[in-house]
Amino acid sequence: MLQRDNKLHKSLNNRHFLDISGLDKTDLRTIIDTAHSLKKAGPEKKAYIMPTVNPMTTLAMIFEKSSTRTRISFDMAMRHLGGQTMVLNSSDLQLGRGETIEDTARVMSRFVDIIMIRTGSHEKLLSLAKNADIPVINGLTDFSHPCQILADILTYEEHRGSVKGKVISWVGDGNNMTNSWIQAAAKFGFELRLACPPEFSCDGVVLEKARSEGAKIITTTDPKQAVKDADCIMTDTWVSMGDKDAELRHKILAPYQVNKKLMALAANTAIFMHCLPAHRGEEVTADVIDGVQSVVFDEAENRMHIQKTILAWCLGKI
Ligand code: CP
Ligand code: NVA
Repeated sequence: MLQRDNKLHKSLNNRHFLDISGLDKTDLRTIIDTAHSLKKAGPEKKAYIMPTVNPMTTLAMIFEKSSTRTRISFDMAMRHLGGQTMVLNSSDLQLGRGETIEDTARVMSRFVDIIMIRTGSHEKLLSLAKNADIPVINGLTDFSHPCQILADILTYEEHRGSVKGKVISWVGDGNNMTNSWIQAAAKFGFELRLACPPEFSCDGVVLEKARSEGAKIITTTDPKQAVKDADCIMTDTWVSMGDKDAELRHKILAPYQVNKKLMALAANTAIFMHCLPAHRGEEVTADVIDGVQSVVFDEAENRMHIQKTILAWCLGKI
């Protein structure tokens, strides 16, 4: 079985899920629309009507950083598909003692069918993918968080319909989340507005590439300008995993808090999203994140639905 699956992956030219920029618009749309249909079709909140995998098909998850949502939602997604999971903290692996990522990729390809990795270094993710004979999924790096952004688009669309032509506004730190949103703007036809302080602005190279591919992106340092009449307001922690300058970040990002006053400038129908974990009273006030416009727990749930179809796509099942 494992042998047959590995051949299948090769024939699919290894369907890695590394970054939104590297994926076809049609594949991205298939992943989101299938997740949406599976979620709607399922009894209550769990969808059991879905593409299935052989019961021996195994997802290995490598974590070099903490996780609640990614860890649990991938685990449940693979169980719903009918396969198995294995959680590996890097300190449990020889990787944590200096074995190369290249050798880790080659060895793991002999045992499991698909790998998800959460790591700081994007280069490590790319080396893993380059040297693996099986699909590799980006579960967050310091550079990007593509699974989250597809879950976010699914969440927006289930609440408000197609994201095409809508205004999505980001207020706060320019980080791994903004890189993936910028890449998504080039694929999904929404207007992206980014309000970040100059000290923590978005990646210029990623911006330039997305704009050259037709993305409509407005950058500003003024949160009010970014959220005016917007359809969706988003933010993220001021201190991402691995960031060292917490005190400075809090000081510089304080004017970028999403609060009721800022939300009032958005469209009446605007929703609030946050990838979580959140820090109430810092990047967002409690009345916003726990208020009627917030869809953050649907967003968290949708990690599971979208990852089910990301896994199915990587394994050639959709
Ligand atoms: N949003 C997200 O990726 O959450 P975790 O860090 O808990 O996985
Ligand atoms: N930007 C955050 C996202 C957490 C899901 C981080 O990297 O810590």
